[in-house]
Amino acid sequence: MMNITLSVQPFYLSHADLSVVFYCDLNSLETKTRISVKNIIASEQFEDKQGKILLIRTDKKRILVVGLGKLEELTMHDWQTVLAHVARKAKEVNAKTLTVALPIEEFAKKTSMIPEKLIQGAVEGLTLGAYEFIKHKHVDEQKKEKRIEEVTFCVDVKFEKEVQKGIDVGQRTSKATLFARDLVNEPSSVTTPTFLSLIAQSLAKDNPDISCEILGKKEMEKLGIGGILGIARGSDEEPKFITLKYQPRKTRNGKTIVLVGKGVTFDSGGLSLKSDANMETMKLDMAGAAAILGIFSIISEFKPNINIIGLIPAVENMPSGKAIKPGDIVTSYNGKTIEIISTDAEGRVILADALSFAETFHPDTIIDLATLTGACVVALGEEVAGLFTTDRRLSEHLLIGSSLSGEKLWELPLVKDYEELLKSPVADMKNVSKKRYGGAITGALFLKPFVPEGVPWAHIDIAGPAWQEKDSSLCPEGGTGFGVRLILEYLSTVC
Ligand code: BES
Ligand code: ZN
Ligand code: ZN
Repeated sequence: MMNITLSVQPFYLSHADLSVVFYCDLNSLETKTRISVKNIIASEQFEDKQGKILLIRTDKKRILVVGLGKLEELTMHDWQTVLAHVARKAKEVNAKTLTVALPIEEFAKKTSMIPEKLIQGAVEGLTLGAYEFIKHKHVDEQKKEKRIEEVTFCVDVKFEKEVQKGIDVGQRTSKATLFARDLVNEPSSVTTPTFLSLIAQSLAKDNPDISCEILGKKEMEKLGIGGILGIARGSDEEPKFITLKYQPRKTRNGKTIVLVGKGVTFDSGGLSLKSDANMETMKLDMAGAAAILGIFSIISEFKPNINIIGLIPAVENMPSGKAIKPGDIVTSYNGKTIEIISTDAEGRVILADALSFAETFHPDTIIDLATLTGACVVALGEEVAGLFTTDRRLSEHLLIGSSLSGEKLWELPLVKDYEELLKSPVADMKNVSKKRYGGAITGALFLKPFVPEGVPWAHIDIAGPAWQEKDSSLCPEGGTGFGVRLILEYLSTVC
């Protein structure tokens, strides 16, 4: 990752390969440079619109002028996107060192983002924008060379402390996001349930605050974790049920949050086989698990004052002679029986086990992240996750976390009347509704009876934003690491 520092020296003293200045802040430039830059801007008919950039070569420097449009309308997501765009441009022109002029006071006032968050967002934008997943690719030496090594933010000395904090936090959240992206982008032949369990164990090994327990097939049979075992039956890969525990020595109020992440390492649909077009990207189906692992990869640097439990049911969903069949009935960890109608609605079946298993930890809150339904993508598109929750305060906190982190979230209803769509003639529930409509809602409703009684719970359907079909400024095609920054932001508001 790039090295990011702050400087209280005047911006024009910078010797970086590229000097980045916002259009609304051209005064940061030295008088002579400013005049020539302004002339070029005028002759190029540069417009101060969000994300518009203009590269100017003066005799001594390369200057990147960046438009932000109306600061009053700039959201965190916009801000990150602009900086990501800057990172991409810097790489394109092979700039290894960058200096960014940041008029913190003015930006903070107009955008209503506090200085620390502004910097955090800038660090995230630059880092996420520069990300590529090229480890399996033969890249020519020239392209390999194109890496940003050093970024310096030029700021007013009176914000030094906040800026440094923003840099630290932004580097951690970015690192965790990239950790998750890498896991999602890796082929499913690598990221098997066993592989995920080894990652979890290595996180525990590296951090004294974290411990890890793995349940294999035998242990799950003993405990009656029937959903995970049922879904895993068609695969040659052994299922794993991963528990990660972050327990700081002294928590302020002894509160416990359980985070659950769907870990279907490949979703072929099972015997309810997906079409080839729908199956193409299904290595993404462990994106919830990847987000949880990303969060745990930096949790001991954040040191939240709360117990955090991460639960990952990890399975591969495959057809075979041994595979679970439509009409089969499985018994979940809490004793409820489920009739499997579609083996492609596997996520909810394994989450049922994980949610009821959460009771073991006497949680105060449970949040699950899951690439659960295509219907949620239809409803909210590829950028917005669906939020379902039984608790108003939890909803409020998560929505605040969403706007502060730039990861988009929209609440959908748990419609009580639809519960009967999941009634089965032969078991306590069936895993899909016959109705074509409202699939994201019935998916969430299916999970609800497995949540320990009275515990505030949120289900976040990340089927859309976990993956990107094509390159954007903030992320290349592939896994996005969605959820990591949202949950870290949520944790920092409630801890
Ligand atoms: N993993 C999929 C959901 C999904 C779809 C994630 C598209 C990301 C992008 C899930 O297991 C699934 O197959 N859901 C079915 C549910 C249906 C059978 C009720 C779906 O959405 O079609
Ligand atoms: Zn499926
Ligand atoms: Zn799935």
